[in-house]
Amino acid sequence: MVEKTVESSSGMAPETGGGTRPQRLSQVRSAEGRRLTLGLPEFDRVLGGGLVPGSLVLLGGDPGIGKSTLLLQVALRLAEYGQEVLYVAAEESPEQIKLRADRLGSVSDGVVVLPETALDRVLETAEELRPTMIVVDSIQTVYLTALESSPGSVSQLRDCTAQLLRFAKQTATPIFLVGHVTKEGLIAGPRVVEHMVDVVLYLEGERFYQHRILRAVKNRFGSTNEIGVFEMTDSGLRDVGNPSELFLAERVRDAPGSAVVVALEGTRPILIEVQALTSPAGYGTPRRVATGFDATRLQLLVAVLTKHAGLRLADQDVFVNVTGGIRLVEPAADLGVALAIASSASGIPLDPTAVYIGELGLAGEVRGVHALERRLQEAARLGFERAFVPASSRVASLSAELRLIPISSLAEAVSALAAQAVRSRQNGSELSPG
Ligand code: TYD
Ligand code: MG
Repeated sequence: MVEKTVESSSGMAPETGGGTRPQRLSQVRSAEGRRLTLGLPEFDRVLGGGLVPGSLVLLGGDPGIGKSTLLLQVALRLAEYGQEVLYVAAEESPEQIKLRADRLGSVSDGVVVLPETALDRVLETAEELRPTMIVVDSIQTVYLTALESSPGSVSQLRDCTAQLLRFAKQTATPIFLVGHVTKEGLIAGPRVVEHMVDVVLYLEGERFYQHRILRAVKNRFGSTNEIGVFEMTDSGLRDVGNPSELFLAERVRDAPGSAVVVALEGTRPILIEVQALTSPAGYGTPRRVATGFDATRLQLLVAVLTKHAGLRLADQDVFVNVTGGIRLVEPAADLGVALAIASSASGIPLDPTAVYIGELGLAGEVRGVHALERRLQEAARLGFERAFVPASSRVASLSAELRLIPISSLAEAVSALAAQAVRSRQNGSELSPG
């Protein structure tokens, strides 16, 4: 609960002068062709193919995740192309910004830093300067002098955003707002203004991983499914054009409990390693712990494994970890997760050259997934040789290198795992003399 003081004046006087007139939809000019390319392909992708003029974009994220870095990088990139960007530094001094720019290896004349927290003056400057783009870092530290409440309060946040929105639309200037995700306290979070802006992006990442994921939560100009993957380096964020390779880089092949699944993030399939570990439980209820995977879904998979594949997990703790700090939300990963658990429980490694795609039903059946072909293409591209796919799906093999193995039930997949163990044991005995 946040107290909201009702101000006497909201500072929103009706516009005078020309005003607006109704237009026929057929005569409205489309802004599509005029998107601004930001020079970071992953960022452009998340925006839906570049920044639309006059759009108000909120970039949220935990403190220290790299929001300022990302936006300064974009500003510097635009400046390199000869554009002018107004960077409103409401949190940091120009010296700090300069230090960061030095780190990013580019200091350009085109970036104008304005150390100002009073939004009225920010808008005056913007009016004079008419930059190509404006960055307000952050929306929680700027304030309107007309309001009595303190910066970061709900009413300041709303009214500041409204003013910036008006400026963006009137002048067709794209504006980025930085918003820190706050857990509690007097500073309102970026959620408060999500409904007002055109695009809501969140920069996510785990503290101990170098990569960051840019996710669109709302996008009036594109899909909200796309993600952008970046890597935090010593000189700023770097585009990761090929996330699958990044997420599979540290995979331990031939270790029990590891499976590669193909998750679809927007239009892009990404290969991700899932690890599972089962170990004898102590007293009481055995634990089912998931990192990067839904805990309820894990319990369901454990139940299906117990009931339909004959696994004895009642006295085992089950841990599932999606590597690289990714969150797997798609049911298409079920088969891979279940088999990783079966693999750990039996001590038999899964085929390291295979990917596992399929949703599991409560009857232990493997159900179809959407966009199977796209997932298979990515698996083939990364050199995988076999793909376990739902038997119900009608997909012909895409390439000679990737063999499809149709699977209709979890029981079938688990017995295939056991058969594979027998095969590799036989191969092993052929190799060892005697
Ligand atoms: P920052 O952009 O200040 O985060 P936010 O604005 O979201 O609070 O990023 C801060 C972190 O990024 C800080 O821990 C240092 C790190 N960093 C790098 O690793 N490399 C770099 O080139 C830069 C500029 C920052
Ligand atoms: Mg910052």
